Parts: sequence; structure tokens; C-alpha cells
Amino acid sequence: MRTIATGVAGLALAGAIAASAEPALEETLEIDGQEMITQAPAPEGHPFDTVISGWHYRTPETRALETDTFVNPAMLYVERGEEIWNTVEGTAGKSCASCHGDAAESMKGVGASMPKWNAKAGKPYNMDLQINDCRVEQMGAEPYAFDAADQKALVAFVKHQSLGMPVGLDLTEGEMRKWWEQGKEIYYTRFGQLDLSCASCHEQHNGRHIRADHLSQGQVNGFPTYRLKQADLVSVQNRFKGCVRDTRAVPFEPLGDEAMALETYVTWRGTGLSVETPAVRQ
Ligand code: HEC
Ligand code: HEC
Repeated sequence: MRTIATGVAGLALAGAIAASAEPALEETLEIDGQEMITQAPAPEGHPFDTVISGWHYRTPETRALETDTFVNPAMLYVERGEEIWNTVEGTAGKSCASCHGDAAESMKGVGASMPKWNAKAGKPYNMDLQINDCRVEQMGAEPYAFDAADQKALVAFVKHQSLGMPVGLDLTEGEMRKWWEQGKEIYYTRFGQLDLSCASCHEQHNGRHIRADHLSQGQVNGFPTYRLKQADLVSVQNRFKGCVRDTRAVPFEPLGDEAMALETYVTWRGTGLSVETPAVRQ
């Protein structure tokens, strides 16, 4: 039964997969003149030799939108994020800036090292969870609902303070290793009617075309990312949801334990790549 199911899935994918095409690896990405690391030697234990930003897989027109913050459509959200940073909300009468001051200083590098172990919560925190924690515990404000427009804007603003810095997680803290292992297991587990894993597409068929799309390594260094197709900023866990839905499986609960384990592992797979937030993709 198992063999038959796998065979059918193989066929379904084979039908959708077209010829491979080289990503534009000779191109270099500069944002407002600052050079980004878009190819980096993979960390030990990684299936690839080189980790590659999704930027290289996009068309010249899409790539160009990221080179200039003036034309990057997602910068409007970053500006909104800055506004929120300075806005007082909640019963404590505080804004993010009341405690963290100038984000350009206090938040530099923070986005490059998340998800990060949070001892009090006993799990890794990504930016969304950390911000909600600060809103509830420090500000006496309501947590953001998943994918609220203001949440995406604020996450993008805070991560943008790490633009260009290489992604690097500290897996020695707390139980980060355990979460990384669980994320890895999820990454290689086949699910859904199509019986596909993340690796089926982003590892085995990386560089191929699937329908009209050029399959990248599925890196998260540019999130939240502006997607031209949706004309909107898309959070990393929303992207996971979309990819899981494409396999006709039931998506993980956003910001739940499985999704956090997966984000931890997938972020590690992009170790050394520059934070590109907010990136622009198709
Ligand atoms: C009353 C003070 C206070 C306010 C207001 C506050 N925070 Fe925090 N924030 C903290 C403290 C204390 C920590 C570190 C301990 C913790 O995680 O609780 C922290 C940690 C963080 C971190 C992780 C920093 C790191 O180095 O890992 C981020 C990111 C962050 N806050 C963002 C925000 C944002 C965005 C807002 C506004 C929505 C905000 N904070 C509001 C006190 C505050
Ligand atoms: C059926 C094939 C397929 C599967 C299975 C799949 N994806 Fe994707 N994914 C895509 C396609 C197509 C894109 C858009 C083109 C690209 O960037 O690769 C994409 C894009 C992404 C991106 C955005 C990359 C960027 O540079 O912005 C991430 C992150 C991602 N996938 C993660 C995952 C994860 C995690 C899983 C497993 C839960 C997964 N994908 C499963 C097809 C798939």
C-alpha cells in the first residue's frame, strides 16, 4: 500500500515538474549599495554544500525590486512598523521605544538570531511570539492575532534592523537542539494526499520548475516577504501554511509547537545568508 501511494505521488509530482534551470548565481544583490550574502557555505550536517537565497531563483524584474528600498513595495509596511514602534498602547502606557529606545541600535542583529530559546516560555521564540510576549507582559496590551497587518509590519520593521547580517541560531541554548531535531523530522516527513515532504520539493527538486515556478531551497532569510502574486507582505508561517496546503495536507497551527520547530530547523538551513527583510518574491 505504502509503495503504491508513494508511486502515485511520484507521478503527480513528475507531471508538474519541468526542466531544471540554473538559478542566476553570477548575480550579486546590493540593497542601497550594501552587499548581501546570498550564497554561503552550508553548516555541518547540511544536505547542500552551499545555501542559496531565493533571490537568485527569481526573474530579473523581481530581483531588481529588492535592490532599492525606494522601489521595494514592502518598505511601506516597514514604515508602518516604525510608527507602531513609537506608539503608546496598553495599560502600562508604554511603546516599544519606551523600553528599547532606538531600534537601529537595540534591535540590530536580533532578527538574525531568531528563533531564540526563551527559558521562561520553555520554547524557541520567533519575532512574532517575542513581540506578543512584550505586548502582553510589558505593555498590558492585547497580543496580535496571527497575521494581523500590524504584526507583519512590526516584525518586518524589527527584522529590517538586521538587514545584511548573516543568519545564525544559537542551538546550544536550552532545548534548541531538541526543537531543531523535531523540525528536521517534520521537514522530511511526507504528508498530504500527494505524499510530499518539504524536502521532496526544496531539496530533491531544487532548481527545477514546478508549474510556472522555479523551485528554490525554500529559505526564510527574507521574511516577512512581499509577494507580488498576493500584493501583500507574507509571514514565514503563512508561507509554510501555503506550501503544506499545496500537498493537500492540513497545515500546522500557526505559531504552534510543530510550526515553531519547523521554523527553527528551516532557519538553520539558511545559516550564513544575509537577512533580506523585507525580500520581494513572485
Ligand atoms: C516595559 C518594557 C518593554 C516594552 C514596552 C517592550 N519590551 Fe521588548 N523586551 C523587554 C524585556 C525586559 C526583554 C527581555 C526579556 C524578555 O524577553 O521578556 C524584551 C525583549 C524583546 C526582544 C528580544 C530581544 C533579544 O535580544 O532577543 C524583542 C525583539 C522585543 N523585546 C521587541 C519589543 C517590541 C517590538 C515591543 C513593542 C511592541 C516591545 N518589545 C516592548 C521589555 C519591553
Ligand atoms: C509541491 C512542492 C512544495 C512542497 C512540498 C513545499 N514547497 Fe515550499 N515552495 C514551493 C514553491 C513552488 C515555492 C515558490 C518558489 C520557491 O521559492 O521555491 C515555495 C516557496 C517556499 C518558501 C519561500 C522561499 C523564499 O525565498 O521566499 C519557503 C520558506 C518554503 N517554500 C518552505 C517550505 C516548507 C517548510 C515546506 C514543508 C512544510 C515546503 N516549503 C513544502 C513548493 C513546495
